[in-house]
Amino acid sequence: MNKADRRFMEEGIKTLHTFNSTPDQPGNTRYIFTDADMKAREYLKSLIEEAGLELYEDGIGNIFGVLRGEDRSLAPVWTGSHFDTVINGGMYDGVVGSLGAIESLKLIKESGEKHLRDIVAVLFTSEESGRYGIGCLGSHFITGELGFEDTKRIKDDEGISLYDTMTSRGYGKDFEKIAKKKGDIFAFLELHIEQGPILEKQGIPIGIVTGITAPSYISVSIKGEQRHAGSTPMNARKDSMCAFAEIVLELEAYAKSLGHPNFCATVGKVNVSPNASNVIPGEVRFTIDLRGIEAEPKDKMTENIIKFFDYLEAKRGVKIEYHIDANDKPMFSDEKLVDLVEGVCLDKKLPYLKMNSGAYHDSLMMAKLCPMAMVFVPSRDGISHDPGEYTSMEEILEGVDVLCESVLRAANLKKL
Ligand code: GLV
Ligand code: MN
Ligand code: MN
Repeated sequence: MNKADRRFMEEGIKTLHTFNSTPDQPGNTRYIFTDADMKAREYLKSLIEEAGLELYEDGIGNIFGVLRGEDRSLAPVWTGSHFDTVINGGMYDGVVGSLGAIESLKLIKESGEKHLRDIVAVLFTSEESGRYGIGCLGSHFITGELGFEDTKRIKDDEGISLYDTMTSRGYGKDFEKIAKKKGDIFAFLELHIEQGPILEKQGIPIGIVTGITAPSYISVSIKGEQRHAGSTPMNARKDSMCAFAEIVLELEAYAKSLGHPNFCATVGKVNVSPNASNVIPGEVRFTIDLRGIEAEPKDKMTENIIKFFDYLEAKRGVKIEYHIDANDKPMFSDEKLVDLVEGVCLDKKLPYLKMNSGAYHDSLMMAKLCPMAMVFVPSRDGISHDPGEYTSMEEILEGVDVLCESVLRAANLKKL
């Protein structure tokens, strides 16, 4: 087996970085079904075709490239990641695993190594929650947790439905073929940057993910009274911004009190109305992102903040409405698949660390359908979801080599 092709990975990362909705700002923004996303799709599909893989797309735009195995009666091995980004994000998140999947299939094809099972590169639609507020959108359709009717109710900040954007781009057909069931996929492997500092700090090139932290998303609206900033005395206000500030600090304090790196709370998206310096805000709308590696404490974080809403309504006379948009369960890698990846690292004499993922991934969804494992490569200074995201090409290529060999071994197993 050849080593991963530096030129292919380097060029792929650089080219995808040119498909960017915010070229005048730092970093890269590529939201689902924008022009930038459509250009990235065309490019990735051209790579799949050039690699001589069988290309197809499903109704929500997940892209597939298939390398046929010897026994088509056996369930395939899937590998892949996403190619969208957060707003002003980096060049590596998702992209490394998407290109790494195509490169792995190319390497296996070129090597002529036999494999029983089909191997499928899957490039997921919209793993980031940026446009529609739901993470792992494409893979939620693959698990069947979202379906065609949901596309009509899922709307972006401009009120444009997922149904409208997908149909305007020619998607939305054959929805009944998207969802897979248990047994349809033999195993799923995803290569990804770590997005945290652990591997770099310990000087270890490969992480093998054993568990994935899951998110809950809550949208909140606080309605107070819009009043004059100068003439309304401090004790006669229903200031939605002050209530908001209390919520942010309560979330921080509660998540910190859990004292575990994989329990986090973040408020990252806020709209203030009317957003004027001399007007007491009448309304603040925002999102809460809660993460947890165990379901129960994560649910307790949700319960706690909802109780806090009641307390604040009474204390400040504001009205707080909320909607729980998502409540995913943490998932764990398949132990035998982890052993398989570990075996690859041992054979390659590459130090590795078994670790949890603080970020979520399409693997979180895939684990509901089939055995799953992830390969991490280090992130410089642990930075991610930021233009400063960086992983060296050497580290990326080592990750692709581990992915490729793991996928090939899985594709030759009769059972795990
Ligand atoms: C995915 O990028 C996440 O927010 O964890
Ligand atoms: Mn991300
Ligand atoms: Mn990602």
